[in-house]
Amino acid sequence: MSINTTDKIPNNVDLVADKTLQRALEHWQPRFIDWWRETGPDGSHGFEVYLRTAISVERDGWANFGYVKMPEYRWGIFLNPVQGGGTIAFGDHKGQPVWQEVPGEHRANLRRIIVTQGDTEPASVEQQRHLGRTAPSLYDLRNLFQINVEEGRHLWAMVYLLHRYFGRDGREEADALLERRSGDADNPRILGAFNERTPDWLAFFMFTHFTDRDGKFQLNALAESGFEPLARTTQFMLTEEAYHMFVGESGVSRVIQRTCEVMKQLKTDDPAQVRAAGAIDLTTIQRYLNYHYSVTIDLFGADQSSNAAIFYSSGLKGRFREAKRNDDHLLKDASYTVLEPSAGAQLSEREVPMLNALNEVLRDDFIRDSEAGVGRWNRVIEKSELPDRLTLPHKAFNRRIGSLADALVSPEGRVVAESEWSARARDWLPTDGDRAFVASLMTRVVEPGRYAGWIAPPRVPVNGQPMDYEYVRIG
Ligand SMILES: [Fe+2]
Ligand SMILES: [Fe+2]
Repeated sequence: MSINTTDKIPNNVDLVADKTLQRALEHWQPRFIDWWRETGPDGSHGFEVYLRTAISVERDGWANFGYVKMPEYRWGIFLNPVQGGGTIAFGDHKGQPVWQEVPGEHRANLRRIIVTQGDTEPASVEQQRHLGRTAPSLYDLRNLFQINVEEGRHLWAMVYLLHRYFGRDGREEADALLERRSGDADNPRILGAFNERTPDWLAFFMFTHFTDRDGKFQLNALAESGFEPLARTTQFMLTEEAYHMFVGESGVSRVIQRTCEVMKQLKTDDPAQVRAAGAIDLTTIQRYLNYHYSVTIDLFGADQSSNAAIFYSSGLKGRFREAKRNDDHLLKDASYTVLEPSAGAQLSEREVPMLNALNEVLRDDFIRDSEAGVGRWNRVIEKSELPDRLTLPHKAFNRRIGSLADALVSPEGRVVAESEWSARARDWLPTDGDRAFVASLMTRVVEPGRYAGWIAPPRVPVNGQPMDYEYVRIG
């Protein structure tokens, strides 16, 4: 497959051979740039940023580093090479050849899946657009921008599929992806968590740790799709997603590191003293964690969903690591346990058909992965010889979607009365005071190699550069 790196749109899909498609994308591109200038990183358009750009899917091709002004970033279209045996691995079409074109009977569902995924990509750029103004270092500023341009590329990836495979209504959906706005009352983004604000850098690190990790699981499920162009597209997106989660996990680790240093220095665990010393107390970090985790697990959708069953049975969306699972990959006779509120103020377990519970299956895979992440954060505290620990809240805590949506459940998983919820919510979720305090720490640090006082420096620089590298030339 030829890679036309000199084109306006770097790609490995032989764009030059398809004039209609090329014209459609070249028509969409200026609208994308308008969108970027309007809702992309605020006040950054003249910055020269040390970014990686994908120009091919090969080892040395997908991470080319150099200084770029972001509106001139070359957003490309890349599909992973064909893998596997070329047959659909699950559902009613199991064993049949994978689809190279959209199967007519599943067209509407497939388009809906692609649009829903595509909508999250520009949404997160919009959510993060003000953060550059308060970056704690040039290293962090660069990482924010790297994530933003790659989310832009993920939008390109989905728009390519819409233009190439869906004709007119695909083009209309691609335009609509640039028209919705995160948090807009009249024309919001599709999913709840992508309409929330990302007001500060602790929220940003929690978002990239948890919400980009939701992306990892959704993309993995789509990477199994019987529609091969979608599978190969999402496989390549996952290489970029790994870095986004690294930024989140290491970002929170560095905040914790700094907090522990202050706690040890002052020999205190009093949040007020930690705050007075300019660090973020662990209780506030825990409340941010509770919030971002609970909002993110809602993204997996209702615990029982006939759509999830249809997406699976029709071969459009698999499970996380579908091929590694030892079952019939049809799931007609399988069951799965879901939680629901029951009389007597308890949560109870219920066995339901697994096909209907596939959102819950994916959510539980995500939860296991998240537990490991919190374990790594706790090792930072452990190494500082402090007894405190962070925990993931119970999966019924603060839910808005599915059968747990109406339950009031504490972070430990106890069903509580409304009076207890109102009295304790301030201990469990970030308060206005927490947010105001964190906001008060957010000031931009732009001297190379320097870091704001609330966060420890990173352990390793980007791409082997010296620790005081000028990752962003603000000019
Ligand atoms: Fe993405
Ligand atoms: Fe991401």
